[in-house]
Amino acid sequence: MLYKRAAMHILVTGAAGYIGSVIVAELINANHTVIALDNLSLGHRNAVHPDATFVATDLSDFNQVAAVFSEQKIDAVIHMAGQSLVGESMQDPGKFFRANILNGLNVLEAMRHNKVKKFVFSSTAAVYGVPTEVPLSENSQCAPINPYGASKLQFEKILPWYLHTYGIDYTILRYFNAAGATDTLGEAHLTESHLIPIILDTALGSRSELEIFGTDYDTRDGSCIRDYIHVSDLASAHLKALELIQQLENRVYNLGIGHGYSTLEVLDAARKVTGMTITATHSARRPGDPPVLVAKADRAHIDLQWTPRFTEIESIVLSAWRWKLKYPNGYVD
Ligand code: UFG
Repeated sequence: MLYKRAAMHILVTGAAGYIGSVIVAELINANHTVIALDNLSLGHRNAVHPDATFVATDLSDFNQVAAVFSEQKIDAVIHMAGQSLVGESMQDPGKFFRANILNGLNVLEAMRHNKVKKFVFSSTAAVYGVPTEVPLSENSQCAPINPYGASKLQFEKILPWYLHTYGIDYTILRYFNAAGATDTLGEAHLTESHLIPIILDTALGSRSELEIFGTDYDTRDGSCIRDYIHVSDLASAHLKALELIQQLENRVYNLGIGHGYSTLEVLDAARKVTGMTITATHSARRPGDPPVLVAKADRAHIDLQWTPRFTEIESIVLSAWRWKLKYPNGYVD
C-alpha cells in the first residue's frame, strides 16, 4: 500500500505518561504538530517533548476538554490517558470505569462538536481475559477478568457508534506488555508495580527483592507469561495507524512481538543483562492476572506495514537498564 505522509496537528491525551511521552517524541520527529494533554496525576511534565504544546487538562471536566478543542487546530486524536494497573483495578473498579469510559466520552464529544474525524485508541490485551487460544488474535474471545480490561472493552464498543453517527474514523490498538526505554524516555511510575522496573530497581539496590506473583500456573515454569513489546515499537505502530487510518481494512490491531516470556525468564534475562544476582521470592498469585497473554500480531504487520524492531527480551531489558542507570531517580519534576 502506498501512501503520502502529510504533517498533522495531533492531540495526544496521557502525553506525559510512559508510552505517551515516547509517542509524542516520535510524532515530533516525524514533523507532526503535537498538542500534549495530561493532568500530571501519573505523568511527568519533564517527559513531554519541549516542541509539543503542553496543556494541563483534566479529561473528567468536559469544559476543559472543550476549551482545548476550541483553542487548538486538531486533525486527529491519540487517546492514551487512562488508569492501567490491573491489580489496582481489582481494588477500585469505579476509578477505572470513570477514567477509561467517562473521560474518553468527553474526548469523543469534543471531537464531534469540532468535527475532528480521526481517533486512535490505546486499548489492551487485558480485554481478552484468560485466553481460549494462544496466541491471541483480534478475533479471540474477549472476556476480561479484571475491571481494567472490562473498562477498555466497554470503550471499544462505543467507538462504532461514533463512526456510524458522526463519521469519526477509529483504530483500536491493543497493547500487550509495554517495556523498555529510548535513550531519554523510560518507565518511572510514581508507584511502581510493573515487572521490569521492579526487577531493575532490585538490581540497583533500591528494592530488596522481587516478589514473583504465582509459580503454580499451568505454564512451562509455573510463572505467568507475557508478550513484552518495546515502547518505541508501540510508538511506531501509532504513527502508521494514524497515517493509514482511512485506508485500514480492520478496526482492531494487537501490538505484541508474537512470543511470550515467563516472569522467571524475564528475571533471568535481567540477571544476564545487569550482571547482578537480583533476589527473588515466590509469592501468591496476584488477583486479576491471566496466566498467559501472547499476541498474534500478523494483522498489524500486514495492514500497518509494521514490524517490531525489538524481538528478544534481553534487548528490551537492556534498553530499560541503560535508561535506569542514566536516570536512577526517573524524572525529577
Ligand atoms: N509480576 C510479578 N511481580 C511483580 C510485578 C509483576 O511477578 O512485582 C508479574 C505479574 O504477575 C505478571 C507479569 O509480572 O504476570 C507482568 O506484570 P506487570 O504488572 O508488569 O504487567 P501486567 O501484565 O499486569 O499489565 C500490563 C499493563 C496493563 C496491560 C497488560 C497487557 O500494566 O496495562 O500489561 O498484557 F493491560
